[in-house]
Amino acid sequence: MPPKKKKLKTSLKNVLNLAEAHKREKYKQQSHQARIAQTKQKQKTHPKHGRKPKFTSTDRVLLIGEGNFSFAKSIAEHYMASNPGNIIATCYDSEQMLYEKYADEAKSNVATLKELGVTVLFEIDGTKLRKYKDLRKNRYTKIIFNFPHAGAGIKDQDHNIRANQKLLNEFFASAVPLLSKEGETSREMHVTIKTCKPYDLWDIRTLAKTTGKAIKTTFPFHPDIYPGYEHRRTLGFKEGVSKGENAEIIKADPKTFVVVRKSAMEAEKERSKQGAIKRKKDLQRQALLGKKKRKHLFNPKAESSDDDDDNDDDDDDEE
Ligand SMILES: C[S@@+](CC[C@H](N)C(=O)[O-])C[C@H]1O[C@@H](n2cnc3c(N)ncnc32)[C@H](O)[C@@H]1O
Repeated sequence: MPPKKKKLKTSLKNVLNLAEAHKREKYKQQSHQARIAQTKQKQKTHPKHGRKPKFTSTDRVLLIGEGNFSFAKSIAEHYMASNPGNIIATCYDSEQMLYEKYADEAKSNVATLKELGVTVLFEIDGTKLRKYKDLRKNRYTKIIFNFPHAGAGIKDQDHNIRANQKLLNEFFASAVPLLSKEGETSREMHVTIKTCKPYDLWDIRTLAKTTGKAIKTTFPFHPDIYPGYEHRRTLGFKEGVSKGENAEIIKADPKTFVVVRKSAMEAEKERSKQGAIKRKKDLQRQALLGKKKRKHLFNPKAESSDDDDDNDDDDDDEE
C-alpha cells in the first residue's frame, strides 16, 4: 500500500478507536447513573421501612410462634390474598391458653383466618416441626418466626441468651427439612428479632454460620409494612401494663434475617456469577459488532476479518 494511503488508514483507525473508547466511557457513566437512580427510587418507595418482603402466588408459608395471629391475618389479607390457602399459621399455646392470654383479639383473628381458608394449628413446637403429620406432609418456601423468645423469665442474662440461642438453633434444625426442594426459587426462613441489647448478643449470624446456614439478606421490620399486625409478648397482653401500637418493637429497631442453607446460597452466588459473565460477554460481542459495522460503512471493500483490528479488541475490552 502506498505510504500516504497507509497513513490515512492509520489515522482513521485511531479516530474510530477514540470514538469507541468514548462510547464505552459514556455507557459506563450511564449505567452508573442508572444504578444511582434505581437506588433513589427504591428509597422513595419505602423511605424509612426498607424493602417489603416478597410473596408470590406459588409461595407456601408456614408461620411459627404466632402471638395473637394478627401477623398471619396481615399476610393472608395483604400479601397472599390470592392464595391464603397456602398459609399454615401456628402457635405454641393450646387454643384455650391462647384465648386466655390474648382474649378476644386472638379469637377473632383465628376466626377470620379460618374463613379465608388459612390452616390454623395450636400447640406446635417450632423446635420439633417434623413431629407433626399435618406439617411434614408439605414443603414450604418460607418458614417465618417473628420475635422468637424462650420466654422462660430467666433473669440471668447469659443464661437467657443461651436459652434463646438454643431456641433459634433448634428451630433452624427442625425447619430446614421442611423447606421446599432444590431448584425452587425461594426456600428460606425469616426470623425477626430486636437489634438492641441483649438481643444483639444472640449473634444470629454466627449461629447460622456454625450450623451450615447463611444469612441471605436482612431488612428492617417495621410494623407498618404489615397492616393490622400487633406485636404481643409471650406472657400475653395486659391492659395498662403492656405497651400497645407496637411501641415496644418500634423503639428496638427490629430486623428480619433471611436465613438459607449455606449450599443454597453458594449455588445462588454461582448462578449470579455466571449471569454476570454472560452479560459481559454479550456486551463485548455487541461492541465488536458495532465496531465492524462502522468500519464496513466507512470502507465497504474492507475484509471483515482484518488482522490487527481483532487484536485491538482483545486489548481494550477489559474494564
Ligand atoms: C415475643 S412473643 C412473639 C409473638 C408473635 N410472634 C409476635 O410477633 O407478636 C414470642 C413467641 O414465641 C413463642 N415460642 C416460644 N418458644 C416456642 C417454641 N418452641 N415453638 C414455637 N413457638 C415458641 C411464644 O409462644 C411466643 O408466642
